Amino acid sequence: MKKVRKGVEEEQIRRLIGEACKARRRAYAPYSRFRVGAAVLSKDGRVFVGCNVENASYGLTVCAERVAIGNAITQGAREFVAIAVVYSARREAVPCGACRQVLREFGGEMYVISATTRGKYRVRRLSDLLPGSFGGEELRE
Ligand code: THU
Repeated sequence: MKKVRKGVEEEQIRRLIGEACKARRRAYAPYSRFRVGAAVLSKDGRVFVGCNVENASYGLTVCAERVAIGNAITQGAREFVAIAVVYSARREAVPCGACRQVLREFGGEMYVISATTRGKYRVRRLSDLLPGSFGGEELRE
């Protein structure tokens, strides 16, 4: 039987972490030297990756998660099951608040796989990381 952790198959988790680690190696982070990788899994089983892209005008920096989502949307994926985020720290990687909101647009219940570069990880629901969130439904009231 396939091992499932909180609704995501272990195999998918490993695949996403692996892809996020590969993407992280391509991070453009000459200012912070803090490299981040992300890999998002769409409902149809495709994986899209992103890394952080910094800028000399610091505020223009884009996080790895948002690059991954932009990449996925560009290729026609709209619904996501899970995202893995990887950086090198003692604690497993978490998406920043802005990225949580961007992820929420495309799947409030998606799983967020927080990983370290050494493969340690934890799985949480986005709705637990961003409770009581704002979404498009609000605008249609
Ligand atoms: N960063 C991400 O890519 N994702 C996050 O969720 C947190 C922060 C990047 C932005 C910047 O290039 C570097 O990490 C330091 O903040």
